[in-house]
Amino acid sequence: MSNTPHLFSPLVLRGVRLPNRIVVSPMCQYSCTDGFATDWHLVHLGSRAVGGAGLLMSEAAAVTPEGRISPQDLGIYKDEHIEPLERITSFLHGQGAYAGMQLAHAGRKGSTAPPWETARVIPPAEGGWTFVPAPSAVPFADNYPQPTALDGSGIKSTTDAFVAAARRALAAGYDVIELHAAHGYLIHEFLSPISNLRTDEYGGSFENRIRFLIEVTDAVRQVWPERLPLFVRISATDWLENPSTGKTEDGSDPGWTLEQSIALASKLREHGVDLIDVSSGGNVRSANIPVGPGYQTPFAERIKKEAHISTGAVGMITEPAQADHIIRTGQADLVILAREMLRDPYWALRAAQELKQSTPWPVQYMRAAEGHPPPRKPIGE
Ligand SMILES: Cc1cc2nc3c(=O)[nH]c(=O)nc-3n(C[C@H](O)[C@H](O)[C@H](O)COP(=O)(O)O)c2cc1C
Repeated sequence: MSNTPHLFSPLVLRGVRLPNRIVVSPMCQYSCTDGFATDWHLVHLGSRAVGGAGLLMSEAAAVTPEGRISPQDLGIYKDEHIEPLERITSFLHGQGAYAGMQLAHAGRKGSTAPPWETARVIPPAEGGWTFVPAPSAVPFADNYPQPTALDGSGIKSTTDAFVAAARRALAAGYDVIELHAAHGYLIHEFLSPISNLRTDEYGGSFENRIRFLIEVTDAVRQVWPERLPLFVRISATDWLENPSTGKTEDGSDPGWTLEQSIALASKLREHGVDLIDVSSGGNVRSANIPVGPGYQTPFAERIKKEAHISTGAVGMITEPAQADHIIRTGQADLVILAREMLRDPYWALRAAQELKQSTPWPVQYMRAAEGHPPPRKPIGE
């Protein structure tokens, strides 16, 4: 038998042994009041655990109230948030799946409307807020709030909020934390020279722009147990560059680039990060993104090979053979699916049948499982 890993090979990261390479990507559900998870979140994530995914990432969970994108976002800024989250992690563990929490701060994209409404700033009278922190006082686009540049103590208290949130995630039973440093939210805003115009030690050079993320990583790693993995989701490029040449058409500033992402990923590895979840874009509204099947996977491959760190590939991965190929050819260690998981919560079980792999089914559904693979065991048994 070949030792080449495939979609249904386990992956060991520190003390966690994921049963397969299939991850449900973080997806905001815009279904909370004051950050509290509800039955919707239990069923949304729970059904995809029943459907065989090995790791379920929570949607972006805001570390402060003003760190939410919309007033309906998930939060982890209060101890009271722990209890309903713990109900979700217990259910996922009962399905033999692992639970990940994405810790996030929306930065200058905060206090905005859910995507199914017209893009607009939500005023305080409708549950929005006016303090929208960012590295620099530069709005993302029209219909977005005017942000306030964080001062030194604001940066420190935001780092502390990530730490408090990590402690709560641990108390709620999560196995993985992912820091959201992508999609034009606060951490990405610090990384990119497009949104970070600071002249202090948090702006200017590459070392200065990555400082906030490195500080958050170090602080979270200190409270997040050694036995548990830490992921970081990044946007590999702002899409102002041609990723093959690293240059723009007109010689203007390419913003955050793939080369910088590779250098950042190496640093993050040295700071105790186990896997880079490689997304792209979100910081420049006018960016021209060549979206297509697996369009971000080459970034995951380059980061894995050049920064020597595990990666997750995300973005228009929909077909079992496509996902399996990514793992078999060593382009990434995990495949992370978002919209296809909304279309088919049982994608992983279907993929196993299509790829002729055996994966355990919930014991309750065994009569429907072709070939009757062994039933699943809850984690911890
Ligand atoms: C409804 C929805 C909500 C999303 N919310 C988040 C989020 O909370 N955090 C995040 O990092 N990405 C979020 N994303 C982006 C996805 O995680 C994923 O990166 C993107 O959809 C590309 O993957 P796909 O082609 O498989 O959908 C969201 C996407 C969708 C469709």
